[in-house]
Amino acid sequence: MKEKTILITGANDGIGRATAERLAARGAHLVLACRDEGKAQRTALKIMEATGNHNIDTLPLDLSSFASIRAAADEFLAEHPKLDVLINNAGVYTDRRELTKDGYELQFGVNYLGHFLLTMSLLPALRCCRLCSRVINVSSALHKKGTLDFESLAGDNPPRAYHGGRAYAQSKLANVLFTMELDRRYGAELTTNCLHPGLVGTRLANKKSGALTSTVWSMYKPFAHTPERGADTSVYLAISPEVDDVSGRYFDENQCLQKPSALARNEQLARRLWEYSEAAVGEFLLRE
Ligand SMILES: NC(=O)c1ccc[n+]([C@@H]2O[C@H](COP(=O)([O-])OP(=O)(O)OC[C@H]3O[C@@H](n4cnc5c(N)ncnc54)[C@H](OP(=O)(O)O)[C@@H]3O)[C@@H](O)[C@H]2O)c1
Repeated sequence: MKEKTILITGANDGIGRATAERLAARGAHLVLACRDEGKAQRTALKIMEATGNHNIDTLPLDLSSFASIRAAADEFLAEHPKLDVLINNAGVYTDRRELTKDGYELQFGVNYLGHFLLTMSLLPALRCCRLCSRVINVSSALHKKGTLDFESLAGDNPPRAYHGGRAYAQSKLANVLFTMELDRRYGAELTTNCLHPGLVGTRLANKKSGALTSTVWSMYKPFAHTPERGADTSVYLAISPEVDDVSGRYFDENQCLQKPSALARNEQLARRLWEYSEAAVGEFLLRE
């Protein structure tokens, strides 16, 4: 693992942090891409102390800002010719409609669209032979409840009232559709898979949600997996030789292949989402 460079988004908390700790213990060179640089540096130091691996860098990345994503990708590319594994892990849940800096619904923007731009921007370091680069998208079983309402993705005046759970499921459906389409378009040069980490007792729905959602989420936690257990499938997809040549698939928390929802397997919808996303991030895409 020592020669492998692995970039993890949202690596200072929850499942991302647990994933980083596990991969650091294996000796990988890690890049913790996080929105709070101070928190990221404190996390890096703690992981170094715990694992003895000092090959851990931080990278400022706010997935709710295209400019921040572009800057993060440029900084990474300037320093690293190769990215072996990209783990698109960061996520947000909110009950209230909020917009990203570029005017997209926050959960769609952070959980999916920001990761789309990040992945596209990092392609020069990822594109290699299929067997040597991996993209991993942390989705959720809740993608099965998701539909894609293109009218709801941007702006202040969506046609329907906001529902946090529906917007979250939509963003997680987008993660799976992206995985399938990325595989169709770049499957000769990298592998890409997505996963459900299980129900994991993190602070995901305590950070930005209302009191009721936050209370219900906290009540679930004693029955949920630990973040360490929640990291199992991300770690498996990042390093296991069993998935060297596996791509365009969806895995559950036990590293078992599962069939995603019918919508998630809809090629026409995936193509439409890709085209929508390309147009949305437009000027921030690296022109080759
Ligand atoms: N927990 C579950 O039961 C569960 C189930 C299915 C799927 N998932 C998925 O698992 C992934 C990790 O979630 P988690 O449960 O570990 O939650 P978490 O502990 O809240 O971690 C989420 C991470 O994303 C980061 N993040 C949020 N907004 C960001 C932004 N604008 N830019 C950059 N980073 C941002 C957070 O940063 P801060 O620390 O600064 O907030 C945090 O590091 C998410 O994609 C989530 O949808 C979780």
